[in-house]
Amino acid sequence: MLDGFSRKIEYLRISLTDRCNLRCKYCMPAEGVPKNSHWDILTLEEILRVVRLISKLGIKKIRLTGGEPLIRRNLLLLIKEIRKIPAIENIAITTNGVLLADMAQDLYEAGIDQLNISLDTMRKETFADLCRVDALEKVLQGIDTAIKTGFSDIKINCVPIKGVNDEDIAELAGLAQNRPIKVRYIELMPVGCAFDSGLKGLPTSEVRSLIEKKWGTLHELPPAKGKILGPASYCKLDGFSGEIGFIDALEHKFCDKCNRVRLTSEGFLKLCLNHKEGTDLRTPLRKGKSDEELLELLTAAINQKPQEHLFLEKNDHRDKRNMYQVGG
Ligand code: 5AD
Ligand code: SF4
Repeated sequence: MLDGFSRKIEYLRISLTDRCNLRCKYCMPAEGVPKNSHWDILTLEEILRVVRLISKLGIKKIRLTGGEPLIRRNLLLLIKEIRKIPAIENIAITTNGVLLADMAQDLYEAGIDQLNISLDTMRKETFADLCRVDALEKVLQGIDTAIKTGFSDIKINCVPIKGVNDEDIAELAGLAQNRPIKVRYIELMPVGCAFDSGLKGLPTSEVRSLIEKKWGTLHELPPAKGKILGPASYCKLDGFSGEIGFIDALEHKFCDKCNRVRLTSEGFLKLCLNHKEGTDLRTPLRKGKSDEELLELLTAAINQKPQEHLFLEKNDHRDKRNMYQVGG
């Protein structure tokens, strides 16, 4: 359906859990996070009901996120059930890759079309410091296992941070040299604790010049045809099998082309990454509301989707949720 600003909303991101097996500094506050109880988060059946209904409003693509989605129990069953919903054309997942080597085959068979793997550094010590767990080897194994398994759409997501992973930027791009994958750089966004932790993102212009210094000129690619587009723009480097992408979150606002809404693990339909506006679906789901009533709620919510993000402003509409609660 179209939202209040005539944008076509066709993409739902679902956070399956707040929990994570890493503790990345820009995502989880140092003091740790309160644990959700079982009751707090939507059951598989509740998630499926939302997906079935929202698919009637034109949602065609689902992304499963977290926290870390691979630690959600019965994940494979959920994927298989979403696969059966005719309107859903594409199911993607965003993972930190730690459990991927073990799960790639099952995910592939369950019907995942697109795999995003978060990786910010190629150095063991930097990984252990930034993510507060020593798991780089596991993630690298996960990436190569996923490629061997046959996934044809793999993206690596890297958040460049001043003084933390500057030295890794160009090396990470090198992952796309002999692998048919996309390596993307996402500007650090002021969501949750990201800026409170004292971390500063590197602007895309600097990231691009670090890459060009090592690998030569970045050649811009036209937007892919026939795909549900995201906020990234892609480039090619000479001699590379894969591509390099950039998500310019702060300066070059992508809000006018935004096509997505988000569902938190607690069943809150979030309309924009850092606006607190949205609709609680858990209460009506558990109060036995009919499909018609839920569809009305979903339609009214999507109509209220804000025009743009508030990354650069300070104001009351900003959401206090952290990224582990929203899933990026
Ligand atoms: N800014 C940008 N990206 C972030 N991520 C987590 N927090 C932030 C932030 N503040 C990334 C993770 C992961 C994806 C879900 O979002 O690294 O790749
Ligand atoms: Fe976990 Fe992702 Fe947050 Fe890191 S960024 S702590 S991997 S949810």
